[in-house]
Formats: sequence, C-alpha cells, structure tokens
Amino acid sequence: MEITHIEHIGIAVRSLETAIPFYENVLGLKCYNVEEVVDQKVKTAFFKVGQTKIELLESTDPEGAIGKFIETRGEGIHHIAYATDGVQAALDDVAEKGVRLVDKAPRKGAEGLNIAFLHPKSTFGVLTELCEDPAKK
Ligand code: CO
Repeated sequence: MEITHIEHIGIAVRSLETAIPFYENVLGLKCYNVEEVVDQKVKTAFFKVGQTKIELLESTDPEGAIGKFIETRGEGIHHIAYATDGVQAALDDVAEKGVRLVDKAPRKGAEGLNIAFLHPKSTFGVLTELCEDPAKK
C-alpha cells in the first residue's frame, strides 16, 4: 500500500452549528461542504487545510458510532484518514499482516470517497480510515 497524504482528520462534535464558528471565526478556515451520511448516522462539515481536510462529525442517532463515541468519550478526535490509491488492495494487504478490519471491503463515505476502517485494537488506539477518491483514478 502507498499512502500519499492525510486525507482528513475526523473530529466528533455535539453540534456542527456550535462547532463550525470556532473553525471559521477563530481558525479562519472556510466550511465548504455540509453533508449528511445516512449510512453512518452523521452529519459532516468539511474544511480544507492544505491537502488535508478537517471533517467534523455530528451524530444523527445516539445508537450510531459517533453518538456512542461522544456518549462514552466526549467530543474530540475520532479518526485519522489516509489517502491511498486502492482501498481494497490496501485492506487485503493489512489483513494479511494481521491487522483487524472494521470493513472487509470499501464502502461509500462523505464526498463520494471509497472508505474503510481498521480496528483501533490493531492500530494502537487510533481508529484508522483508508480512503480513495474514485474521481481521481
Ligand atoms: Co472519515
């Protein structure tokens, strides 16, 4: 697998409405996209920082992954996403190296990316996402 850059950092927040002004008014970043990902029970807001994005995640369902995360750990960094050229090949590669997978095959994430998660038990406590932009292939 070849990782080209950190695609985004996912940050769990209780409310996009109250978190977005910090990123815009304090850090001076611009929110360029707000999108609900029904499948993942989240609403997301995106900011660009160079080649990397900040992805704010607000839960839309207390039973979803972000809802549970905030309930037990509070707001904060939820995952780091690495851009790679082929998610399926990367998954096969890391599985072969003994890494536990959350997703055995890529699925659709926000912004049309193909994404898959590696289990934090295998990644020193950091929920790790691999993603690829099918539009860039
Ligand atoms: Co993500």
